[in-house]
Amino acid sequence: EKGTYDHFMLKEIDEQPLVMRKIIEAYENEQNQLVLPPEILSATTGCDRIYIIACGTSYHAGLVGKQLLEKLAQVSVEVHVASEFSYNMPLLSGKPLFIFISQSGETADSRSVLVKVKEMGFPALTLTNVPGSTLSREADYTLNLHAGPEIAVASTKAYTAQIAVLAILAATTAKAKGIQTDFDLVQELAIVANAMEVLTQQKETIEELAHAYLDTTRNAFFIGRSADYFVCLEGALKLKEISYIQAEGFAGGELKHGTIALIEEGTPVIALDTQAGVHGAIRGNVQEVVARGANALVVSMQGLELDEDAFVLPHVHELLTPLISVVPLQLLAYYAALHSDCDVDKPRNLAKSVTVE
Ligand code: M6R
Repeated sequence: EKGTYDHFMLKEIDEQPLVMRKIIEAYENEQNQLVLPPEILSATTGCDRIYIIACGTSYHAGLVGKQLLEKLAQVSVEVHVASEFSYNMPLLSGKPLFIFISQSGETADSRSVLVKVKEMGFPALTLTNVPGSTLSREADYTLNLHAGPEIAVASTKAYTAQIAVLAILAATTAKAKGIQTDFDLVQELAIVANAMEVLTQQKETIEELAHAYLDTTRNAFFIGRSADYFVCLEGALKLKEISYIQAEGFAGGELKHGTIALIEEGTPVIALDTQAGVHGAIRGNVQEVVARGANALVVSMQGLELDEDAFVLPHVHELLTPLISVVPLQLLAYYAALHSDCDVDKPRNLAKSVTVE
């Protein structure tokens, strides 16, 4: 089923534009408006707080989802790592809604939280790529990610599908609450799909960047602010998982609070710059690390780019940049792993679905 591809991961990265289009198709009505089942919108409009529960890459998608739900639908959201939530449960609000995000729908850490949530009598919605999976069956409602089977252990198209479906949840909840936005998500996701296509055609450039910045390193840092920070966490996880390079994603503003001590001559620092509001601040961070010898690779978005940037992303709506900024990071991880002869699709010590707590 890999077709002409050497690895499922690369095939799945390339499928992302198609997945975006499938998601739009699956959730739009004949008038090209995005719609969700009324019972799901009653749950999102009727709650006083949303608790997103997930692990790994799905947790990273949840962080982006929080921003979308808070900004578009004006609902408070907390995002929790499932394994921590069980024994460190926060003080819950009066009318919580739980959202579980899980590609496989079988992750044991998330399942054990769902069991507790159901015992407490709270409603739960699962976003999963596997309808009929345990997390889908045991929750009150399910939204399908429509990403198609994801075989590579490193999650790629499920992450972008999760963010797209969370954006749809946010936009339809906003509409159901009567919140006016000038945001046409169908159109914006179509722009995202086209941008993803452009990016997947730039593999040679990204392979060269992986060669120049990552082939001989033992560690790497990813810095960003606001939504870029969340994507940095995901970029670092992807790189660690398949290339075994020790990587850390962190908020640009946190550099001076400790991590900058690790920057030395030649340390690769990958910086994202897609958010106009923090453009100056993240550029300042790039200068700080370069002054200490870092090998900085800046990935910026059209409109914010500078001549020296290594890679420039096509322009998409500012709320949706994680959907495209992650693509070069997925490809960097892929080529870094390939160049060190790692088993890209089946990294050591990892399973596709983690069914033990
Ligand atoms: O199936 P899930 O989305 O619940 O899986 C959660 C994590 O185990 C998963 O995202 C993991 O972090 C990936 N291997 C990352 O690429």
